[in-house]
Amino acid sequence: MSKIGIYVGSSTGSTMQVAKKLEAAFGEERCDIKDLEDDYMDLDEFLEYDILFFGCSTWGSGEVQYNWVEPLQDLQINKPDFSGKTIALFGAGDCKDHSEQFVSALAVLYDKFGARGASFIGAFPTDGYTFDHSEAIRDGKFVGFPFDRVNEDDKTDERLSRWVEVLKAEMPAEALA
Ligand SMILES: Cc1cc2nc3c(=O)[nH]c(=O)nc-3n(C[C@H](O)[C@H](O)[C@H](O)COP(=O)(O)O)c2cc1C
Repeated sequence: MSKIGIYVGSSTGSTMQVAKKLEAAFGEERCDIKDLEDDYMDLDEFLEYDILFFGCSTWGSGEVQYNWVEPLQDLQINKPDFSGKTIALFGAGDCKDHSEQFVSALAVLYDKFGARGASFIGAFPTDGYTFDHSEAIRDGKFVGFPFDRVNEDDKTDERLSRWVEVLKAEMPAEALA
């Protein structure tokens, strides 16, 4: 059984809450969940997994949650090879007060890990979301799973179960064996 590494940057717990639901959906025995606040050493540990779920909320104006800053610096300096790695992105945002940069941090991870060779699964339709702008849209879909605990918490579980189905359909077959 190949394990899934779930790495999470979450300041107020919103993204961690969804990370724990993902862990439950894929099975605790299959998932290693890591809070970057406590657990980050270096990017080599990411490379131990073929499947990675990255959780990152958006702060500032479209910026990554602060625990992702160091891994992204290491990515830029050390230029590790993520080819052959499959990544799924998820993260909290606020579609009202930050409607102009809704979950844009997902785009930062998408571009930077994509530049190091990673492949992505879990693009999610924008239908049902209301916001002005997001950098995290490519080819008409979000590059990962966005959710809004502040304004639309009641929609998260239904959206998440749809996303889990997308992930299961797109994951390499050996990862689910
Ligand atoms: C100062 C500040 C800036 C924020 N900037 C953004 C933003 O640019 N885009 C967005 O979608 N959400 C933004 N948010 C909303 C947070 O992403 C939201 O509160 C989220 O639930 C935090 O998730 P976390 O607890 O996992 O860190 C911002 C919130 C604050 C307080």
